[in-house]
Amino acid sequence: MNEDLHLEHIRREYSSRSLSRSELPAEPLPMVERWLREAIESRVYEPTAMLVGTASPEGQPSIRTVLLKEVLGGRFVFYTGYESRKGRQIAANPRVALTFLWHELERQIHVEGTIERLPAAESDAYFAMRPYKSRIGARISPQSQPIPSREWIMMRFAAESLKFVGREVPRPDSWGGYAVTPHRIELWQGRDSRLHDRFVYELQEDGSWSLTRVAP
Ligand SMILES: Cc1cc2nc3c(=O)[nH]c(=O)nc-3n(C[C@H](O)[C@H](O)[C@H](O)COP(=O)(O)O)c2cc1C
Repeated sequence: MNEDLHLEHIRREYSSRSLSRSELPAEPLPMVERWLREAIESRVYEPTAMLVGTASPEGQPSIRTVLLKEVLGGRFVFYTGYESRKGRQIAANPRVALTFLWHELERQIHVEGTIERLPAAESDAYFAMRPYKSRIGARISPQSQPIPSREWIMMRFAAESLKFVGREVPRPDSWGGYAVTPHRIELWQGRDSRLHDRFVYELQEDGSWSLTRVAP
């Protein structure tokens, strides 16, 4: 039988920073980019890591971490397998959520929006920048599918690596970029006594963004 785990004593106060309305621009993206830059400059571990939440057609949510590669034209770009579990969920339901969490800065950002594939030419351009082994890995991994063993995937990797020595490695159709267009963005700054600062931007029909402080 499982032993119970008591974690109630693990508790930390968040008190290093604050966020006020006067700091916030009319649109959220400049603020998101500022926090991303600060996370990178602060040398937090994996500053570009974000959780991507998708939902099955039945409404079962699932989340996993990916790396943000660009904020381009107001959209959040990442790369993955199109036939992965997330890829299949996205094909059935393009509504997604993203979360950035930077523990060291006591900050998180939540994004909600819709997702679409990047044009093939943009995925090709990024794929070509990846290290050789990552390009080979993307070709041989049937992401999220059951596989018989670690040896099976290593054999595939070795065989594909040999095939492309000294040659251009083409991007497989099953791998590429996605771009998330946000319609809701929340900035969260941890504060004392759990009285955190939270601000929510929501996209309005006229293309402007509303800005609301919400209770912690
Ligand atoms: C720090 C970190 C970064 C990751 N970055 C990516 C990524 O950029 N793309 C990706 O496909 N998987 C990435 N993964 C693996 C995913 O979390 C996940 O296991 C994989 O995409 C399969 O997810 P799925 O079965 O839900 O589709 C990363 C995992 C971690 C822990």
